Amino acid sequence: MTDSNLAIIVLAAGQGTRMKSATPKLLHKLAGATVISHVLATTRALDAQHVVAVVRHERDRLVEVIEVDLPSAVIVDQDDIPGTGRAVELAVSALPDDFSGDVLVVNGDVPLLDAETLQQLIAAHRRAAASASLLTTLLDDPAGYGRVIRDSDGAVDRIVEHKDATEDELGVREINAGIYIFASASLRDQLPKLDLNNAQSEKYITDVVGLLRSQGELVHALEVAHSWKVEGINDRAQLAAAAGHLNAMIIRGWQLAGVTILDPHSTWIDLQVQLSPDVEIRPGCQLLGASVIETGAIIGPDTTLLDTEVGAGASVKRTDATLSVIGAGASVGPFSYLRPGTYLGDNGKIGTFVETKNARIGVGSKVPHLSYVGDATIGEGSNIGAGTIFANYDGVTKQASVIGSQVRTGSHNVFVAPVSIGDGAYTAAGAVVRKDVPAGALGMSVTPQRNIEGWVETNRPGSAAAEAAKNANNS
Ligand code: UD1
Ligand code: CA
Repeated sequence: MTDSNLAIIVLAAGQGTRMKSATPKLLHKLAGATVISHVLATTRALDAQHVVAVVRHERDRLVEVIEVDLPSAVIVDQDDIPGTGRAVELAVSALPDDFSGDVLVVNGDVPLLDAETLQQLIAAHRRAAASASLLTTLLDDPAGYGRVIRDSDGAVDRIVEHKDATEDELGVREINAGIYIFASASLRDQLPKLDLNNAQSEKYITDVVGLLRSQGELVHALEVAHSWKVEGINDRAQLAAAAGHLNAMIIRGWQLAGVTILDPHSTWIDLQVQLSPDVEIRPGCQLLGASVIETGAIIGPDTTLLDTEVGAGASVKRTDATLSVIGAGASVGPFSYLRPGTYLGDNGKIGTFVETKNARIGVGSKVPHLSYVGDATIGEGSNIGAGTIFANYDGVTKQASVIGSQVRTGSHNVFVAPVSIGDGAYTAAGAVVRKDVPAGALGMSVTPQRNIEGWVETNRPGSAAAEAAKNANNS
């Protein structure tokens, strides 16, 4: 149900300089989703009356993501005045004048924040009837964060930014998580008082806390026991740490849902992936994007699947697959490369050192060894000989080939597309197939073999081969 007394402001205008990246900080990914997408998903769960997202740096790229993830959000562009305080000021002015509820402010760079923690903050704030409430946590290494300064009674007095802190204040381990809720009237009263008189010459939203307290207003702090939930992403080390944490949670969730994961430390599973009970994941696997694995399938070791479906009971070893579908009971690998558009039918096989692309391989059909299958359709129950190449590209255009059902092709064939092989046909070893082969025919293109008797003894006299041949012929 929509909380009509709640507005949420998501801060997403910062530059993220510490990432040292051409990609905006909030568009870096963990578990397959951008940092900002995680935060938007969490805010979406609160179903607030109003959501405002503040953007500036790379605004078009951010807006593209926000419009997909949270289309109801109002986009506000931050101006030349820097700082989180300015961002909130502009966002508040985009709220309806008569909005008198609570304003929840969330930094855009806290991807592991969960809706439950936000609900607790909202509830505690409303219970205490505070002017503002904020999430804090204790960190062993609080470097970079704003410190929560409490008075002699233990009440929150103000927040001091790392760069403005005294030696004593730097020793404080309780940090501001960058997540606040304000009574809108109190926030509106204080925002015009923010100035740029600090080490970073920015308007700090954190200064509102000290301003409210100096007016004698109540500020409530809720300490989060699990710090990782509220840690911000500022550099790549923090991004990797958060990604690792999220991955560990995803893996544990699947283990408890009946999936065998032999080595959690070498397994990476994106948030969107769907697994079934009795799937087995062996060490060194990455299951990415919208991959779906059905029950009884064995994945790995050393396999990367992106947006790939694997049917029940299939086995996929040492394989790299993207946008592919692997049928039930099928076998893939070791060392297979499935490029987009590969469909392998039930009980089919793509074997060792085989590359496929835009290829439909029918039920029970096999491409077991050392082959390239591109732009091809193979019917049911066919077998493609070792070392076969589907030559789909003539240097100008790509063309398709069709192999029927119950076909047996010889080793080391080249199918020069476009070409078609009828049902039940055979091709001879080494054939370069340029013309269609009718159903049931044998296609061959290699000249019949001819042996020149005594060639070695004549042309390589005295060699070990000539000696061996002489012995064989004399016996
Ligand atoms: C901020 C807090 C700090 C807190 C920390 C928690 C301030 C002044 N400091 O510091 O007390 O411990 O978060 O992680 O708020 N942003 C804008 N507009 C701006 C600047 C930033 O929208 O002009 C956005 C950023 O995109 C980001 C968020 O605000 O999502 C926080 O900005 P960041 O620069 O990371 O703040 P911190 O220095 O981490
Ligand atoms: Ca930050």
